[in-house]
Amino acid sequence: MKFFVDTADTADIRELAELGLLDGVTTNPTLVAKSGKDFKEVVKEICGIVPGPVSAEVVALDHAGMMREAEVLRKIANNIAIKVPLTPEGLKTCRKLTSDGTMVNVTLCFSANQALLAAKAGATFISPFVGRHDDNGFDGMELIRDIRLIYDNYAFDTQILVASVRTPIHVLESAKIGADVATMPAAIIRGLFKHVLTDKGIESFLTDWKKTGQSII
Ligand code: E4P
Repeated sequence: MKFFVDTADTADIRELAELGLLDGVTTNPTLVAKSGKDFKEVVKEICGIVPGPVSAEVVALDHAGMMREAEVLRKIANNIAIKVPLTPEGLKTCRKLTSDGTMVNVTLCFSANQALLAAKAGATFISPFVGRHDDNGFDGMELIRDIRLIYDNYAFDTQILVASVRTPIHVLESAKIGADVATMPAAIIRGLFKHVLTDKGIESFLTDWKKTGQSII
C-alpha cells in the first residue's frame, strides 16, 4: 500500500520524505489555508520534495472553471494530480483531464456508487473519506470494502486512496482490505512506528550492552 501524507506543511513533508516512506502528498483548500502559504507556491515546493503524485484541488464548481484552474495547476509540475469533487461537473472534468494524460484524484466520495461513477470517468484515484463517514454514523471501512469489491469485479484501474484517516486502525484495515493508497496526517504516519514493547526492548538491550563494556566502532 502506498503512503501519502495529507498536509501542506512542507517541514513535515520533508521529514517524512527523508524516511523514504512517502509515495505522494494530498492537499485540500483547508490544508492550504492552514499552511498560511500561497497555494501555487506551496504546491510547487511540495512537488520538488516528493516525486510521486501531489494532489492540488480546484475550487470552481463548473466544468469550464475547473478546466481553467486545472490548466494553471497542471503546469506547476509533472507530478500534479488534479483534485476534483465528485459531482457531474467534476467527473466531466475528470474524463477530459485523464484523456489528456493528467492524473485526477476524485475527492469527497461517500458511497460505493459514487466510486463506481469516478472509475467509469477514468479517475486515477478515488478518495473515500473514512473519518467523516464514521463521524456521521456510517462505517468507513465497509465503504472501502465495497469499493474494492466493485473495482475488482470490473478490473477498474482507478486506485482507492483512503482519505480522512484518523487512526492507525484505519490504516491497518485499509491494508487488510487491499486499498491502493492511504493518505494520512503526518502524526498518524509517525504513530504507526509506536509500540510500547519496541521501546522497552531497546531500553533493555542497551542496558545489557553497557554491561559488556564493548563498542561496535
Ligand atoms: C484528502 O485528500 C482529504 O481532503 C482529507 O483526507 C480530508 O480529511 P479530513 O476529513 O480529516 O478533513
